[in-house]
Amino acid sequence: MIKISPSILMADFANLGDEIKSVSSADYLHFDVMDGVFVPNISIGLPVLESVRKVTDMLLDVHLMIASPHKYTARFAQAGADIVVFHVEAEMPANISFAINELHALGKKSGLSIKPDTAVSALAPFMDLLDVVLVMAVEPGFGGQSFMNAALPKIAELRYLIDAKNLHCDIEVDGGINPDTARLCIEAGATVLVAGNDVFRAADRAARIMELRSACMM
Ligand code: DX5
Ligand code: ZN
Repeated sequence: MIKISPSILMADFANLGDEIKSVSSADYLHFDVMDGVFVPNISIGLPVLESVRKVTDMLLDVHLMIASPHKYTARFAQAGADIVVFHVEAEMPANISFAINELHALGKKSGLSIKPDTAVSALAPFMDLLDVVLVMAVEPGFGGQSFMNAALPKIAELRYLIDAKNLHCDIEVDGGINPDTARLCIEAGATVLVAGNDVFRAADRAARIMELRSACMM
């Protein structure tokens, strides 16, 4: 089943509890962490995640856009994340394996992400261990950007690799998702769609989540 993960980066942070309730018909809640080093923007971190955990039972899908993520993955897991995704470009291979194993030891799912200029081959050494691979369809750092079609062949390549090895790994796509691009991603083989602007700018968020789901079934 296709999963929709609204990104609270585009929410009104002064009313975060109500904003989260407005998207509770979605499958996951996407939580973007930016440090101003790995990406040229700063967002939210551990104290906000702890507060969010207290007000929702939604599955929390934490996307770390930070330098040296292996130093923080366990802390985000302990703060309430269900899935912790970090960037392959931000770490040395030994630290990536360490972080994945540590997350699994804590009973959490682990994911690895690639930026638009990074090839799928960068994920290959870790595929057997991962629960999620996240393909960025925009440069990470900001919501509201346009979807890059170059993400589509990467999704298809990952679909082929995952099916060929019979792995149980979700393919998540993040950036520029709307009903049109959602359908393209699903056709290419994606299973989880992050949507920030498209969901949070809608007056009726539940209806917009339904529209995204419907687009994926066409
Ligand atoms: C961007 C973030 C995304 C962002 C998506 O760096 O990782 O999760 O919130 O926003 P939209 O859907 O507006 O592109
Ligand atoms: Zn994200």
